[in-house]
Amino acid sequence: MNFLGRQLIKLNIGKDAYIITNALIKRKFGDLISRNLKKSGLKVKFKTVPDTEKSKSITRSAAIIKDLAAFDRQKRLFIVALGGGVIGDLAGFVASIYKRGVPFVQIPTTLLAQVDSSIGGKTAVDLEIGKNLVGSFYQPRLVFSDVEFLKTLGRRQLCAGLAEVIKYGLIKDRALFALMEKDYKKVLSFNPGVLDQIVIRCSRIKAKVVSLDEKEERGLRTILNFGHTIGHAIEASGGYKGYNHGEAVALGILVAADISAYCRLTKRSVVERIEKLFSSLSLPTKIKKVSFCKIINAHYHDKKFIGRKNRFVLLSGIGKTKIVEDVPLEIIKKALRNRF
Ligand SMILES: NC(=O)c1ccc[n+]([C@@H]2O[C@H](COP(=O)([O-])OP(=O)(O)OC[C@H]3O[C@@H](n4cnc5c(N)ncnc54)[C@H](O)[C@@H]3O)[C@@H](O)[C@H]2O)c1
Ligand SMILES: [Zn+2]
Repeated sequence: MNFLGRQLIKLNIGKDAYIITNALIKRKFGDLISRNLKKSGLKVKFKTVPDTEKSKSITRSAAIIKDLAAFDRQKRLFIVALGGGVIGDLAGFVASIYKRGVPFVQIPTTLLAQVDSSIGGKTAVDLEIGKNLVGSFYQPRLVFSDVEFLKTLGRRQLCAGLAEVIKYGLIKDRALFALMEKDYKKVLSFNPGVLDQIVIRCSRIKAKVVSLDEKEERGLRTILNFGHTIGHAIEASGGYKGYNHGEAVALGILVAADISAYCRLTKRSVVERIEKLFSSLSLPTKIKKVSFCKIINAHYHDKKFIGRKNRFVLLSGIGKTKIVEDVPLEIIKKALRNRF
């Protein structure tokens, strides 16, 4: 944490930090961040937004932009996102459109944000009819992750992030998957050494994949969506209330793994290993809060559909993927039925 102020000075992005956060995070970490930045000669202004996904809206963005413009008198300001993925997506969106883009820094405070949402440059706000429908690609100048922030996370929130960690292991890093199997208890007790390793490995994977296909034009970034076709359908059909994102992704991963086994791409034992690991982390392995039909209907809205053809990221072993188009509906239904 001590390095933060110095890192920001080195970047030479301005002297005034406009920090977007929520009241809970400001209470927990506001003083620490403020002291650190001021020590390096930076000025600090906090802007808090309500602690809800609803803050990812055009209305909220417009209000922040008005506040920014009033604050921005003869200043060289940069925007800091201090919080989870909601704050990161919103602050990144505002940074990308205010004055056609001002420097932006991510300080992610949830595991999900450290391993996933703070990296890659996707910013977004939601519309009533759907999530993340308005946004931009805008890279932060710095992502400053410190696992010390994670100590105050609730268990459910930590495990939601771990579903994404396991996703990275499954698509690209079998050693990471094995580490999770061996050391999940240390992770649950917030062992900083293990958490550090996890955040570093996942960040590297995400940064590498994104650098090969920043704007998702070459189909390479698609593998990061492993488990998300059915995961998003579960989240949407529960009205974003039943399961959180990580829990829905865990269920989506199991369905994708089952489909992979039915397509004879991977062994059944792989599905069993994933299921065992999720159970150890109290992540769901059965769907109880959403109906089968709703999920099937919702999965047609997946962005990976090309025309009427579906496209699934499947596993061809732990650490290896295969993108398969036109998976028969019967196989998808059979795999989904296993989860009820
Ligand atoms: N841009 C991307 O590439 C990308 C990728 C994945 C997810 N997302 C977005 O991220 C959002 C979800 O992010 P999230 O899971 O971080 O949720 P979140 O931002 O809502 O944070 C979850 C909760 O944890 C609290 N919190 C944050 N840090 C804390 C801490 N250190 N201690 C205690 N509580 C803390 C927050 O106040 C909030 O109540 C969604 O809007 C999703 O669309 C974006
Ligand atoms: Zn995700």
